[in-house]
Amino acid sequence: MKVGLVGWRGMVGSVLMQRMQEENDFAHFEPVFFSTSNAGGKAPAFASGAGPLQDANSIDALKRMDVILTCQGGDYTNEVFPKLREAGWNGYWIDAASSLRMKDDAIIILDPVNMHVIKDGLTKGVKNYVGGNCTVSLMLMALGGLFQNNLVEWLTSMTYQAASGAGAQNMRELIAQMGSIHSKVGGLLADPASAILDIDRQVAAHINSPEYPTANFGVPLGGSLIPWIDKDLGNGQSKEEWKGAAETNKILGKVAGQPGSIPVDGLCVRIGAMRCHSQALTIKLKKDVPLDEINDMLAKANDWVRVVPNQREASMKDLTPAAVTGRMHVPVGRLRKMSMGGDYLSAFTVGDQLLWGAAEPLRRMLRILIE
Ligand code: HSE
Repeated sequence: MKVGLVGWRGMVGSVLMQRMQEENDFAHFEPVFFSTSNAGGKAPAFASGAGPLQDANSIDALKRMDVILTCQGGDYTNEVFPKLREAGWNGYWIDAASSLRMKDDAIIILDPVNMHVIKDGLTKGVKNYVGGNCTVSLMLMALGGLFQNNLVEWLTSMTYQAASGAGAQNMRELIAQMGSIHSKVGGLLADPASAILDIDRQVAAHINSPEYPTANFGVPLGGSLIPWIDKDLGNGQSKEEWKGAAETNKILGKVAGQPGSIPVDGLCVRIGAMRCHSQALTIKLKKDVPLDEINDMLAKANDWVRVVPNQREASMKDLTPAAVTGRMHVPVGRLRKMSMGGDYLSAFTVGDQLLWGAAEPLRRMLRILIE
């Protein structure tokens, strides 16, 4: 099977390539590397034997692939995908971008949660498989057990999203912001006799000054937060918030707003973490299930979820972006019944936005196609 890889050099693409090497994926197909800027150049060293880079804008070259896997982004998908289908290409298109996600002829892939939807799609001849929004995928990895047991009446997700979700340049900017704060007050900070309110006044003035680097985020993130992610839909909701219900339901084989669907809504916030998204969840259960049974269901749902005991030490140590960054597991904790009643469950989850939130479902889809 010939698999064309596009956008493998970017941030999500690089994480994907790393995971594919770790799992020995390249042994199972013939990789063909595409480039939008360096056709004819050398294929990466990790895929020994792969031919020269092909032109990612050449429909003829792309047409020769059985599968195309792209992390190149939405503009590329919008430009190339329709032309390729118009040219009669009938291969499998696996995509990290959101452009095709909500189309009827596309399936959102998260196989530990919706293998049945994927298998059903394959049987029906669906050819387009798209990775989900990172917050949605990470929430479903964490709460899979509740959905499997049909226990969720509705849920709200209040997010704490990392800089990586906005892009590589935004991660750099967050670090630059943190560094520039320190360099501004480093002298005062080193003096134990300095007054904290003097330091704070200088930090506040600096964060709000034109000197503070904000070209990518538009406003300060380091030392602050940003309570809006993605476009304004004009109804008070951000596009990131809209995806909660739209994508969750599609992943589960339902349609948001239709009978049988699950209401999901919340407020999406960017915070100064690097690449782990966190979410505080309020879950309205269909019935009052004892907490030990809930812990059990959650823990059993897939191989990556980890239930963290709802205790101070464990939560502070294991349920944070610092603890989870670069890791495949998805911890869920702070599990308790809320004061509103036994069918109201509180939870907190953290996950690496570049792994399960982006790259991992794509490489697993490729393996599903191959096997
Ligand atoms: N939209 C997400 C974010 C990232 O901005 O964090 C990709 O799903």
